[in-house]
Amino acid sequence: MAVLVTGGAGYIGSHTVAELIARGEEVVIVDNLETGHREAVTAGTLEIGDIRDKAFLNEVFTKHSIDAVIHFAAYSLVGESMVKPGKYYDNNVSGTGVLLDVMKDYGVKRIVFSSTAATYGEPERVPIVETDRTEPTSVYGETKLTMERMMRWFDQAHDIQYVSLRYFNAAGAHESGQIGEDHRPESHLVPIVLQTALGQREEITVFGSDYPTADGTCVRDYIHVSDLADAHVLALHYLRDGGKSDIFNLGNGQGFSVLEVIRTAEQVTGRPIPTAIRERRAGDPAILIASADKARRVLGWSPRRDKLEQIVESAWRWHTARPHGYIES
Ligand code: UFG
Repeated sequence: MAVLVTGGAGYIGSHTVAELIARGEEVVIVDNLETGHREAVTAGTLEIGDIRDKAFLNEVFTKHSIDAVIHFAAYSLVGESMVKPGKYYDNNVSGTGVLLDVMKDYGVKRIVFSSTAATYGEPERVPIVETDRTEPTSVYGETKLTMERMMRWFDQAHDIQYVSLRYFNAAGAHESGQIGEDHRPESHLVPIVLQTALGQREEITVFGSDYPTADGTCVRDYIHVSDLADAHVLALHYLRDGGKSDIFNLGNGQGFSVLEVIRTAEQVTGRPIPTAIRERRAGDPAILIASADKARRVLGWSPRRDKLEQIVESAWRWHTARPHGYIES
């Protein structure tokens, strides 16, 4: 039996595929390679196509004997989602609807879902727990919350169990140095900081220094991508062991400001990182920190690369080995 990973050529998807393969799982990857990279798929069987294409998914489910799905395929840029809501609803929500329907048709009863802290919006308090209010402030967060809710209804109607993993700020790269973060265009803090250290950018723009935080810049909970990958594998085992549908936060429970990340990167790289303080970016909450106690308790998850230095170091290894990221084919 195989695990189907949608979006397995993307950043977190590719690290999860690597982890599944390392644990001896048979893996089928579905990706349309619109934002994913063929080169990021280092093992498993890649089926190129779109999750909105039901005929294509039917073919994949007919060809392979699939026991569970790990679902990453989605657009994930907060800023873009605000100006192109239709694009996000179509791919994220409609795409998930097609996937769940095909799972129902083929009797596949387990799905692990890539969700986000963006489902909470502006938090009521930190650290955030799973029962806190969900009021997304972006279309992206709204589509992910809708996808979670779809899964709940599919569970009720068709007995498809889901685990939704709400990640905070994913960063870092695989220890092999073969896979890492490569978004085009890049909008995430850690890669932009490291591209600045490499001299590919003149400076890093800090979005706002007037937030109610110690140094005035936004605070985030950075979590190593391989620790996220581990959590997906644990969630899969949880479902295979008969666990019921549930939602878990994934983070280290520790917050770092934008300036702290830049300072850490200066130490790790030994290079100066020119910084320009500019206006706030729309929609950024001041502080996002996870309580991941539930994932630790129920899934037995325990992040192993939980120091910011470790996370930045691993990202730096990837950026220095592959300064221009994946080679596009
Ligand atoms: N930042 C800068 N300059 C940059 C890029 C980012 O100052 O050039 C700041 C942002 O304002 C933010 C922090 O660095 O305060 C982190 O920004 P990222 O874009 O790296 O990450 P976000 O916190 O905005 O987004 C992440 C995920 C999203 C998810 C969101 C949940 O990437 O998918 O967390 O709130 F939706």
